[in-house]
Amino acid sequence: MTTPNPKVSLRVYDGAPSLPDVMRLIETELSEPYNIYTYRYFLHQWPHLCFLAYVHDTQGKETAVGVIIGRLDRHMRGARLWRGYIAMLSVDPRWRGYGIGAQLIRRAVDEMVQGGAAEIVLETEVDNAAALRLYERLGFLREKRLYRFYLNGGRVLDGMIL
Ligand SMILES: CC(C)(COP(=O)(O)OP(=O)(O)OC[C@H]1O[C@@H](n2cnc3c(N)ncnc32)[C@H](O)[C@@H]1OP(=O)(O)O)[C@@H](O)C(=O)NCCC(=O)NCCS
Repeated sequence: MTTPNPKVSLRVYDGAPSLPDVMRLIETELSEPYNIYTYRYFLHQWPHLCFLAYVHDTQGKETAVGVIIGRLDRHMRGARLWRGYIAMLSVDPRWRGYGIGAQLIRRAVDEMVQGGAAEIVLETEVDNAAALRLYERLGFLREKRLYRFYLNGGRVLDGMIL
């Protein structure tokens, strides 16, 4: 049964108590395996660029159903330019199609822009139709095609930019 207009609230990552929710949401949905050091790399340096989405049941109990993790640093070529990067985005399959992914992206983008980002980039698999459509709807453009090889096999990614 689908839930009409779930009440969703977004909150910034508040530290270790939320880490299990972050990892659960990402590990079950993203094909790339991440270890604890990868999470720590992002969450220790840019906790303000990680947001969780929560839904609330009728008793007021909340459940984390989506997460986005980002980074903001100087452009690799050493210019003064600041560049945002969306590293991970995941919404629980039971809660997709309600605009939660779009809310998470908008929130992270706003925060990056406030932090001085002149551009925001990300990578997504070329056959990830839902993610590509979502990012394009929010204004991202496909910039380049990337061929990467991981322990779990090769992946073809589209690099996108806002
Ligand atoms: C990508 C993802 C985060 C979207 O979350 P969501 O909460 O469903 O996002 P929204 O509800 O805001 O928008 C979903 C959009 O995808 C579209 N969509 C869903 N499935 C689709 C498909 N198979 N083909 C094309 N578009 C699709 C929806 O129609 C909607 O677009 P619309 O509003 O223009 O109709 C979610 O699907 C997910 O977690 N996927 C697995 C992890 C992942 O791929 N992460 C991104 C890679 S970094």
